[in-house]
Amino acid sequence: MKLLVTGGAGFIASNYIRYALSAHPDYHIINLDKLTYAGNLENLRDIESSNRYTFIKGDICDEKILEGMEFDAILNFAAESHVDRSILDAQPFLRTNIMGTYNLLEAARRRDCFFLQVSTDEVYGSIEKGFFNEDSPLLPNSPYAASKASSDMLVRAYVETHKLKAVITRCSNNYGPYQFPEKLIPLVILNAVNGKPIPVYGDGMNVRDWIHVTDHCRAVDAVFHRGAPGEVYNIGSRNERPNIEIIKLILKKVAEILDLDEAGLMDLISFVEDRKGHDRRYAIDPLKIEEGTGWKPEMSFEQGIEKTIEWYISNKDWWQRIISGEYMQYYNTQYGERLKD
Ligand code: NAD
Ligand code: TYD
Repeated sequence: MKLLVTGGAGFIASNYIRYALSAHPDYHIINLDKLTYAGNLENLRDIESSNRYTFIKGDICDEKILEGMEFDAILNFAAESHVDRSILDAQPFLRTNIMGTYNLLEAARRRDCFFLQVSTDEVYGSIEKGFFNEDSPLLPNSPYAASKASSDMLVRAYVETHKLKAVITRCSNNYGPYQFPEKLIPLVILNAVNGKPIPVYGDGMNVRDWIHVTDHCRAVDAVFHRGAPGEVYNIGSRNERPNIEIIKLILKKVAEILDLDEAGLMDLISFVEDRKGHDRRYAIDPLKIEEGTGWKPEMSFEQGIEKTIEWYISNKDWWQRIISGEYMQYYNTQYGERLKD
């Protein structure tokens, strides 16, 4: 089996490639990645010399990029993925997430190959009470979520119109090793370690449902192997937490691990202006994937967050190269002034 994995130099797909190469010794994986600010080949250093792995630098929007390439399935992880960036400039989101998905769907249609779209629970919008299931309406609130909902609609249309064998997964918020430090959990860990203010949007009571990236990768793999073509599967681990609770938990653990003053770390918490259109709560029901594929999350949040904090603390070289580059320029321009308040 030869898989084309897109966005493999990013957070989730690099974890997926590592997982799939080890879980399926007969698989070959081609990683197609444009290497945007979020793509980092260091995420795959340990497997890059495998003769079952090939890296191709390329853009999923490039109509010619897949010419002559052979594969049995496309797993599309590539995307612009950060909500805050989509608020500042939605154009790259529309281009990659919509046009890029369209380009890959066309390639899959021409070859009649299997297609798995890695989507997000954010397409459903915000929910005050209860849980979204796969039949809930798509009500995206951020340009990021709207671009992902659009690509989901295209996948659906290719299933209905061209009978493409495709599935969609919609996962909740991921955390774990190799996550780019613009997202909440790595940002809090790094700012705690570096003694920098921790920006909490609004009142800190927005709720996300957190899943360890390894459980997400196992779920994608389960849907790829055992999901029914044409279906959508929500992925989550029933682990809802308000942001402020996560932040305090991380600060407590960092203090314990590095033997730092916990109260001093708590003082880094800095309430800032709320994100525009900030979704209050995400919560999905993962019953369909559990019953349909036998998948279940394995990592408890307590264990996962501790392992993640330890990973960031022991992989300083990895994140130092990131925060001394283009990302910090973006971060300081966007948030520097606000953090001084
Ligand atoms: P990421 O931003 O860490 O990585 C994205 C990768 O895609 C990068 O390597 C980047 O270089 C690549 N890429 C971007 N544009 C490209 C293009 N035009 N052509 C080829 N490659 C391109 O993202 P992530 O957090 O790993 O998310 C991966 C996927 O999972 C996304 O589709 C995202 O919507 C989805 N998702 C993420 C989460 C989460 O919590 N991070 C949750 C649910 C779903
Ligand atoms: P994020 O990691 O950007 O994921 P998403 O917006 O896709 O859920 O943010 C998670 C939550 O944390 C979200 O409610 C916004 C909040 N947040 C902060 O309060 N401060 C921050 O610096 C960041 C990046 C996020």
